[in-house]
Amino acid sequence: MGRSGTHVIVVGNEKGGSGKSTTAFHLAVYLMYQGFRVASIDVDSRQQTLTQYVRNRRKWAQAHDLQLPHAMHFHLPPSKSDSIKENQRLEFDLFRQAIIEVEGDADFLIVDTPGFDTHLTRLAHSLADTLVTPLNDSVIDLDVMAHVDPVTGDPREMSHYARLVQRARTERLSIDGRTIDWIVVRNRISMLPSRSAKMVLAALDKISVRLGCRVADGIAERVIFRSLFPTGMTVFDPLDEELLGGLPSMSHLSARQEYRQLVEALRLPVSDKAAARIAAAKALAESAGSATKFEHMA
Ligand SMILES: Nc1ncnc2c1ncn2[C@@H]1O[C@H](COP(=O)(O)OP(=O)(O)O)[C@@H](O)[C@H]1O
Ligand SMILES: [Mg+2]
Repeated sequence: MGRSGTHVIVVGNEKGGSGKSTTAFHLAVYLMYQGFRVASIDVDSRQQTLTQYVRNRRKWAQAHDLQLPHAMHFHLPPSKSDSIKENQRLEFDLFRQAIIEVEGDADFLIVDTPGFDTHLTRLAHSLADTLVTPLNDSVIDLDVMAHVDPVTGDPREMSHYARLVQRARTERLSIDGRTIDWIVVRNRISMLPSRSAKMVLAALDKISVRLGCRVADGIAERVIFRSLFPTGMTVFDPLDEELLGGLPSMSHLSARQEYRQLVEALRLPVSDKAAARIAAAKALAESAGSATKFEHMA
């Protein structure tokens, strides 16, 4: 995977509601505004949040005649057969097909995974070049990474999910000698400083050393994320006062800034091909007098 230039970003965490789908969608839209070609796959066949997000965006853009970037998107159909084996085979084939289709065409492939362990979740993880794990900012949620001593905050034992990632890494190494860059990002951080938040941060520091992952600055808890979902918009889209019922708020601009910082922290590679394409598009836009098209909205 990714050998002909498509870099695979998997968003995973074995827990629902940690912000995987929101993060996957924001990463996709942000990278498109940067001028990259982006494809996405929704591996969560039960909830299909990412797929719904993509649909909402297309409908909204059409209804309001908006020129918005859209990712090439794939999703799995709800399973039809009663046989688990047969379903697994079908899912696997679909997944493989989607990957073959985007390979070389997309600069980035973003894979959203469900909050439970399936063979497809495992497969997706072993194909990751970059793994992003959003984590709710609470001591309880640390359990997804490691079981932590409640008093000292020291990691005692790897969690089920951390073991899944470790296996994916081993597998990946044996397939093509590559490793998975794993980044954990705290999500829905409370604006109020608390003892618990401090403890999470300190424990994460220790956990990251043990598990071989990096910790990125987090994303704050913001109402805006919930209000954008029905429109399929993200904090990166140009905001129309009329359409969204208000000017971009401070909270909105800060959310952009936080996601930008997250992408920086990911240290994603830019292929020569993508860099040349983006430079050419920029030059073209400048000569046409609209230099802003391939820059992200400030
Ligand atoms: N930073 C945030 N601030 C506020 N709400 C958030 C934030 N990130 C995600 N949410 C909300 O949390 C819920 C779960 O997010 P989602 O991305 O669907 O999680 P997952 O895919 O891990 O189940 C959604 O309602 C989403 O709008
Ligand atoms: Mg989800």
